[in-house]
Formats: sequence, C-alpha cells, structure tokens
Amino acid sequence: MTNLITDPDHDCEICPRLRTYILETRAKYPDWFNGPVPTWLPPDGAKSVKMLIVGLAPGIRGANRTGRPFTGDYAGDLLYATLKKFAFSDGEFGSSIDDGLTLKEAAITNAVRCVPPENKPVGQEINNCRPFLEATLSSYTNLKAIVTLGKISHDSTIRTLNERVSQHPFGHNKVTQVGRLKVFSSYHCSRYNTNTGRLTEKMFEAVFRSVRNYIDSEAK
Ligand code: URA
Repeated sequence: MTNLITDPDHDCEICPRLRTYILETRAKYPDWFNGPVPTWLPPDGAKSVKMLIVGLAPGIRGANRTGRPFTGDYAGDLLYATLKKFAFSDGEFGSSIDDGLTLKEAAITNAVRCVPPENKPVGQEINNCRPFLEATLSSYTNLKAIVTLGKISHDSTIRTLNERVSQHPFGHNKVTQVGRLKVFSSYHCSRYNTNTGRLTEKMFEAVFRSVRNYIDSEAK
C-alpha cells in the first residue's frame, strides 16, 4: 500500500546508521538543519510541478546544514545555474535558503533524505526511504518528467515506479518512458564528476534542454 507521507519526520528513526550520524552531527553543529531534508516545491505547490529532480542524498555541509536540497555545497552550483538557464527557476541562487530563489514547474528531492556517512547510502537505507519517494511522486498530478541524478537515484526511481532496472538502465542523457512519465537520467552534478570531466556543463544542459522541450511540447 502506498505510504502517503511525502516527507519523513524530522526525528525519523527508520535507518539506525543515518539516525546515529545525524545525532552526532546535531551535537557538533546544533544550529544546522540536521534532519531528513524535505522536497523543495515551487510557490504554486504540488499542482504546478511538471518536472521532479531526484538527487542522491543531502551533503553534510550542504542540504543537511541548510535544509534545502542542493543548497550550501558545490553540487548546487551547476544544478541551479542550469535550472535558471531553462526557465525552471526565478531569482538568483545564493547557496543559502534565504537567497530568494524559487522553483518554477519543478520540485527537487533526494532518493535518500538523510545525510549518509561519506555520501554513500547503503541498499537498505535506499529501500527504507523509497516509500517517501513513492508518496512524493504520486502527489504530483501534472508531473510529466523525472530527472534522476546518478545511478542510485535512477535505479531507486525506476523501482518506485514498479519497473525493472534491467528494462530501464541508467545512462547519461538517456530517456525512458514509464507509463505517462518520461525519465531523463544524468550523471550526478557532484564536484567529483565535474572536476574529473565525467560531466561537463554542456552535457548537463543537454539533459535539461530535452526536458524543457518535452514539457513545452506537451503544453501545446
Ligand atoms: N545535495 C543534495 O541535496 N543532493 C545530492 O544528491 C547532493 C547534494
């Protein structure tokens, strides 16, 4: 049965390892957000969401500190610059939650909502968090597209949609149809991927250009 709770409780205890890590981080940095990071929605709410971006998990000094996905560490720089370029946001990204940036037709979430040690969630944690992704997905009645950032996010999204990963394999700039939704996959916009040249600005933009064209074509 679908779990209709879209965001875990701030004191979620489902994953013992992640709970311990968050409690340790709360003790060290009591002013940080230090909890499962909720999905970020546009001001017009769930009904206006046409594209959902699924990241991996909050970064320790990024979303885990600020409480907003991809905000406060390097991973957001390329993502938010690209969203602006393809008119999925208004305002300027300032890497803090009071930068005034808003999303347009887009929402951003993570496959795993709590910061994992060394940025690596284990399989059980990815599975434990999937009901929240499932509830999130089913709350967007006008959703057209999902952008998955990295293989973990991609595979968890495909499983959330009750499909087999072998039928919808991950690949950069690959698009697959699942029911009424198109899933666009991309390498994750992490510093590691951009520094090593695995993901360039051009490659990342190509994904969002396709999503923009698709959403615009559906609106006609
Ligand atoms: N910050 C997030 O919120 N998600 C990621 O996947 C990486 C950084």
